[in-house]
This record gives sequence, C-alpha cells and structure tokens, in this order.
Amino acid sequence: MTDTTTGRFAGSTIIVTGAGSGIGRATATRIAQEGGRVIATDVVAARLDALRTELDGLDVETVVGDVAATETIDALVTAAGGRVDGLANVAGIMDAFLPPDEVDDATWERVFSVNVTGPMRLTRAVLPLMIAAGKGSVVNVASEAALKASAAGAAYTSSKHAIAGYTKSVAFFHGPQGIRANAVAPGAVATNIEAPMKSEYAAGRVGPIMQTTIPPVAQPEQLAAAITWLLSDDSANVNGAVLPSDGGWSVV
Ligand SMILES: NC(=O)c1ccc[n+]([C@@H]2O[C@H](COP(=O)([O-])OP(=O)(O)OC[C@H]3O[C@@H](n4cnc5c(N)ncnc54)[C@H](O)[C@@H]3O)[C@@H](O)[C@H]2O)c1
Repeated sequence: MTDTTTGRFAGSTIIVTGAGSGIGRATATRIAQEGGRVIATDVVAARLDALRTELDGLDVETVVGDVAATETIDALVTAAGGRVDGLANVAGIMDAFLPPDEVDDATWERVFSVNVTGPMRLTRAVLPLMIAAGKGSVVNVASEAALKASAAGAAYTSSKHAIAGYTKSVAFFHGPQGIRANAVAPGAVATNIEAPMKSEYAAGRVGPIMQTTIPPVAQPEQLAAAITWLLSDDSANVNGAVLPSDGGWSVV
C-alpha cells in the first residue's frame, strides 16, 4: 500500500510509543524497514514480543511499560543511549464517548494521563538530547477529536485538543533550537483501540453525525506514512502543524 524509502532513517534512533498495535506498530515497522533504530514501547509485553519476532533482523529494542509512568520514561531514555533523533507519541486510549455531564473523574484522569501527560513527560525527557544535537522531530498522534467535538466524548476530545496545543508549544519554544513538533490527526483507522459507546445520550447525538460524515476506515500503514514523513527530513520546513489524515472528514 505504501512504499518504503530505502535508508531514510539510517543512523537515526526513534522512540515509538504504542508500538505493539495499530498505528504505533505500523510506524515502528516502517522506521525499522527504512534503516532506523527503533525503541519500541507499549504497556502490553506480548505485543512487543510479537513485533520483535516479526521484525527479526532489524534494529528494534523494546521497553515494556505505561507511557504515563516516570519509570517507563527513564527506561526509554536509558535505552536510547544518549541519542534521540525522533519521538513518535502514538499510544492513546478512548473515553467511552461520555459527554460533559456524564464523564467521571477516573475516565478523565486516565485519558489525560495517557494521551497528554505521558507524551509531555517523554518529550520533556528527550528534548535536552535533541537540543544538544541541534535537531530533533517530535510527532504526536492527535485525532479528528482535536479538530471537532463530534468524534468522541468530553475527555478524549479535550485531551486531543490539549496534545495539539502542546505540539504547537514545543514547535514555538524549541523551533529556534532545531526542534520540530507536529501532530497527525487520524480519522477512523482499523486498529485494536477500544471505543465502547457507554452513553445513550451520546449515541443519539454522535451516531447520526458519524454515519453521514465519516469517510471509509483507513489502514494503520496510511497513518504511518504521514507520521514517518513528519519524522523525516522530507518535512524539514513543517513545524507546529496538525495534519489531518482522515480521508477529508475534517472538511465535512
Ligand atoms: N484508531 C482510530 O480510529 C484512531 C483515530 C484517531 C486517533 N487515534 C489515535 O491513534 C493512536 C494509536 O491508536 P490505535 O488506534 O493504533 O490503537 P491501538 O489500541 O491499536 O494501539 C495503541 C497501543 O497503545 C498501547 N497503550 C495504550 N495505553 C498505553 C499506555 N498507558 N502506555 C503504553 N502503551 C499504551 C496499547 O497497548 C496499544 O498497543 C492513539 O493515540 C489514538 O488516540 C486512533
């Protein structure tokens, strides 16, 4: 579906979170196939084992852990060994479509911890290495829910707007130091993400809008193409962008 570019990431070390499944897995795979050294992390160990087996012979190191936990972040920085050329913050969770009057504290806090706080902490941990090198690319996976309110519940929509804002902040403050930060906003993608609809009210409000506006479901490799482009020097003049990769959903 998407052609790899020989050697595009040769000599580069890239951290990919959520690398055990879906968009993260496709991203890690493409970077490794294009010659990069991948530090692949996920909270599910078996998924990382499967990835390593599939990419046997390529340069893939795995770190198991919750991206929101400081121990995981420390382990990732150690695994990188003093060099991080790129960071793809892909891991994320949904929110059961709970609207503002139904969202509970546990859902709100967990969604923000995985979708915003984890990426912020990991970015903060690798920025000193990137700044010292005078170069680095951070790519955050946002969502259609970073662009509109009808794609998820209150917690997920707020978290994805937050990560879009954080992306711009990194680009603004650290652009002059050679750092680029961009986000990709996927529409619907065929992955293992859990998206239960737990609100009757939300089903009635969101359902009809989605049914009439949502384009065909994309494949994770299509998102990996956009993410790796933003990680690579091909996008050298792009900084602070939130790029929809959604089949045009955002313009409906
Ligand atoms: N699939 C979609 O339709 C869609 C649409 C828009 C945005 N996204 C975003 O894309 C990103 C990737 O999602 P996906 O669809 O590939 O889902 P996925 O569930 O297939 O993959 C996500 C991976 O992240 C891992 N993960 C979850 N919580 C984690 C944590 N706390 N620490 C470490 N790893 C964790 C999971 O184990 C899983 O392997 C997410 O940020 C999601 O919000 C997905």
